[in-house]
Amino acid sequence: MNAIPYGRQNITDDDIQEVIKTLKSDYLTQGPKINEFEVEFAKYVGSKYAVAVANGTAALHLCALALGVNTGDKVITTPITFAASANCVRYCGGEVVFGDIDPETYLLDIESVKLLLESSPKGTYKGIIPVDFTGRAVDLEAFYKLAKEYDLWIIEDSCHSPGGYFIDSNGVQQNCGNGNFADLAIFSFHPVKHIASGEGGMITTNDEKLYKKLLKLRTHGITKDESTYTNSIEFAGGTENYPLWYMEMQELGFNYRLTDFQAALGLSQLKRADEGILRRREIAKKYNDIFSDKTYIKGQSGVIEGHAYHLYIIEVDDRLGLYNYLRENNIFAQIHYIPCHLMPYYKNLGWKEGDKPNSESYYKKCISLPMYPTLTNEELNFVSEKIHEYFS
Ligand SMILES: Cc1ncc(COP(=O)(O)O)c(C=O)c1O
Repeated sequence: MNAIPYGRQNITDDDIQEVIKTLKSDYLTQGPKINEFEVEFAKYVGSKYAVAVANGTAALHLCALALGVNTGDKVITTPITFAASANCVRYCGGEVVFGDIDPETYLLDIESVKLLLESSPKGTYKGIIPVDFTGRAVDLEAFYKLAKEYDLWIIEDSCHSPGGYFIDSNGVQQNCGNGNFADLAIFSFHPVKHIASGEGGMITTNDEKLYKKLLKLRTHGITKDESTYTNSIEFAGGTENYPLWYMEMQELGFNYRLTDFQAALGLSQLKRADEGILRRREIAKKYNDIFSDKTYIKGQSGVIEGHAYHLYIIEVDDRLGLYNYLRENNIFAQIHYIPCHLMPYYKNLGWKEGDKPNSESYYKKCISLPMYPTLTNEELNFVSEKIHEYFS
């Protein structure tokens, strides 16, 4: 059996042809593929706007900037996420306050967020960053209600959940990143994600003002929209109109642009996104059926409507033993995640063991099994057999 990783990209000949076409075109960056990818991605998730960026971390940083996170601003997120979900607040000088997870869903527990909000004067917190961890959609409707009550913004970290959804209280399907219950949402196109572009990211929103701000921040804070210019036509070097070369850097931005050949790859992958989700759901169902009567498994991702299954996680007591046994058998499971608040960087800011008991006991047992569309049934059975063998 070949090595079986926990996640992997799927690059087809069509993908390669699309990249080659762009490499042979006039634009390697800032060309037509960016806008095409943005338009198609916005359609896919059901948002009004999308802004393509260099990676998911850049997307989070731009969101925090666009929402005005500033020194000392407090923002709530989950400890069970990739560090970038929290770090974006720190980039802007803000303070990260961790809630805890719901041990059933592994998602940020809204009750832990309520406790934080209720125990401080209104205005203490500025925003919440819920994460659709593993691909399971957060109930954003509930978070949105809470956010309105406390005048908070929401950034949905949807890196794990393109194609995921939850059903709202009216029975309506709400796609992850559609912007109906969040100010902004972000995605990553890192190779282990549903859509791969090498590095890459996307921000989606329904807010035109934020959209325009993000476009500017993505490219150094520069604009060519003359209706917003503050310098005079004369200063710019024109007589009756601004000269064509003129542009203004109006605020401090970054170069967080995606290249056109990455966008071409992302676009081509997006066409197969639904197919990939169907296979991921099929794999989850197979794992679930196999594990349903196995008492050594304490918890699992289960079969949940709207789950995008970026990850399939089980909880076991002897996690280290299983991890090593799987490695010996060429199966490379992974751990998602070491609780963010116990990373040395956040410990140095005052967080300590015992602060988030649900996240910490989850971390002791969790292990992510291979989950990607090209995982074969034979490989899946091999993984399941090896797990069973270890515990028998
Ligand atoms: C939940 C989550 N947020 C943010 C990121 C950051 O994305 P990127 O690696 O594209 O910067 C990741 C990627 O691993 C992630 O899993």
